[in-house]
Amino acid sequence: MPFDLERARHETPGCVNVLHFNNAGASLMPQPVLDATIAHLQLEAQIGGYEAAARAHEVLEHTYDAAATLLHCSRDEIAVVENATRAWDMAFYSIPFKPGDRILTAQSEYASNYIAFLQIAQKTGAVVEVLPNDANGQVSLDALKNAIDGRVKLIAITHAPTNGGLVQPVSAIGKIARAAGILYLVDACQSVGQMPIDVQQIGCDMLSTTGRKYLRGPRGTGLLYVRSSLLAQLEPPFLDLHAAEWVARDRYEIRPDARRFENWEGNVAGKIGLGVAIDYAMQWGMEDIWRRIKTLAYQLRTQLSPIPGVIVRDHGVTQGGIVTFTLEDIAPEEIQRKLGVYNINVTVTTRSSTLLDMDTRKLTSMVRASVHYYNSEEEIERFCAKIAEIAG
Ligand SMILES: Cc1ncc(COP(=O)(O)O)c(C=O)c1O
Repeated sequence: MPFDLERARHETPGCVNVLHFNNAGASLMPQPVLDATIAHLQLEAQIGGYEAAARAHEVLEHTYDAAATLLHCSRDEIAVVENATRAWDMAFYSIPFKPGDRILTAQSEYASNYIAFLQIAQKTGAVVEVLPNDANGQVSLDALKNAIDGRVKLIAITHAPTNGGLVQPVSAIGKIARAAGILYLVDACQSVGQMPIDVQQIGCDMLSTTGRKYLRGPRGTGLLYVRSSLLAQLEPPFLDLHAAEWVARDRYEIRPDARRFENWEGNVAGKIGLGVAIDYAMQWGMEDIWRRIKTLAYQLRTQLSPIPGVIVRDHGVTQGGIVTFTLEDIAPEEIQRKLGVYNINVTVTTRSSTLLDMDTRKLTSMVRASVHYYNSEEEIERFCAKIAEIAG
């Protein structure tokens, strides 16, 4: 069946205003997500926030079922939190590190995660080690195999890095982690909603993501998956009366499920919207979404490359919807500004977001144009024509 682009665009109200190639920043929300989120805010205004939450109980609970179906896990293994960073942090900071423990990561690791590694290394004496890339620019599986020993406490990998189309081989990494019995944390902030994600197949223990990027959910939403067999061993860095129960003067009991990583107050409308966004994505089908995104991104790279002065910068055997490039003698920020005049949205990825990778590749910034399934072939043509014009 051909992809129903007309329907996808019709159900995305923002398509009439902007050419949106900033889906890795925040996607345009589809109408059903917008409707569900606004309807709940209206209910809060009409009958009260607590009362609205009580009335929406089942819808809210459905978000956990939807997330579990999407990620192929059980609903008790899901926490719904504020964003991907908080999800990742709650998992990472729950791990008890001791001096000499090794944390293995990749060159393209995201700034917030690396900052957390450094903080924990400074506090506990754990050491952070960055695995080299292979010839394709993805993490070297041979280097990972060779690095494994009894001191490796954690393998932490970003699935789709913030600064390009690279998709790391997370399932192959998972096999190595499983065989060695090492904890494995995947930052899937930019891959969930873009491609099928199966935590069983990946073999990860923990996985974090956000709502607003490829899932097309509302801002201020995120998800954490934690394998059930691990839950009891991971004590969250913060607890409140939702994550734990105060049962006696000097005693509390932490919840057994993944909601131990949540806190009490939250954006109920956003959580509901996230559930609708997940249902909506699954209705399109994750395989179909992934196929279309890869096709569009390939087309964008292919049409950008011949433009004089353009260098497409993406690495990897598998490349997703995030297309990065530079243009000789014109700063990425200037390109972003010039495109903005025509309501064309891109973003600029800078050195400090992925410092190790950018320094290794001697880059300071790149234009990041990230496509989603509702973008059109015509938009790619129009975008490339504008880039050619800017290039002179
Ligand atoms: C790879 C990666 N991880 C984590 C994050 C943080 O996500 P959030 O802003 O939802 O915390 C981002 C955001 O750009 C990202 O690119």
